[in-house]
Amino acid sequence: MALEVIPLNKFIGAEIRGVDLTQPVCEELRKQLYGLWMDHIVLLFRDQKLTQEQLVAATGNFGPLAKLARKAEFRPPGYSKLLDNIMLISNIRENGVPIGALPDGEMHFHHDMMHVEIPHKGTCLYSVEVPSHGGNTCFANTYVAYETLPDDIKQKLEGKQAFHSYNLGEQKRGDGKGSPQVNQATHPVFIRHDETGRKAVFVNRLMTEGVVGMNDSESYPLLNRIYDHSENPEWIYEHVWRPNDLLIWDNRCSMHARTDFPEGERRLMLRTTIEGSTRPAG
Ligand SMILES: [Fe+2]
Repeated sequence: MALEVIPLNKFIGAEIRGVDLTQPVCEELRKQLYGLWMDHIVLLFRDQKLTQEQLVAATGNFGPLAKLARKAEFRPPGYSKLLDNIMLISNIRENGVPIGALPDGEMHFHHDMMHVEIPHKGTCLYSVEVPSHGGNTCFANTYVAYETLPDDIKQKLEGKQAFHSYNLGEQKRGDGKGSPQVNQATHPVFIRHDETGRKAVFVNRLMTEGVVGMNDSESYPLLNRIYDHSENPEWIYEHVWRPNDLLIWDNRCSMHARTDFPEGERRLMLRTTIEGSTRPAG
């Protein structure tokens, strides 16, 4: 079956049809998919009925899988049934305790794992159970955000570093559920993608604490303008999940958020990430 590439919107994402990810991917197809990923930032594969092993193999087509950031003793109970590199995101509760991480509701825009020195370059998210509505994943193209950013912001922040943590909130900034056990990292406010060479915004509403060498009173208004600009609803692709969707995105040139969803409905997703190969550079 020939590969079909259907853009998800004008700015980000493509649905790829004609690939069965339950099967091994030959080197020629792997390179083709990788090139499409670099071009479109987010790839969607629908109707993939994957086992955990097949999810790991599908992720591996895009690079080495990263280890889970969360230490074993802090993992929710559902992780005991998973392969090593898979994270469980779910609001399903057993004995009142969520079986997975990031259980309920909305999440602010963020880049996965930007609070470590070498952030994970990509993330795969696979849907097993989805609510009747909501729990959508929204994607912003941060190349476009950079390229269209007003000059006065670029001039003030070009060459500067920002520091990031996962302490400000787990799902929303200020929700009081940050994770003090994880590290803080410093990266350029604008990074150059190590494979495409294009520049992108690399700060976000959930994780960015401030700018090195700037007072909060100076940096906050600038950062807030970047967030508002980057999250422009006209640019966003909002993915409405069906079961057995696999999405892969590039954390170096996109950020993502989650919309709210009904508390009483089940949502169960499996997540894998791809190791980064270098510290982000400006
Ligand atoms: Fe995320």
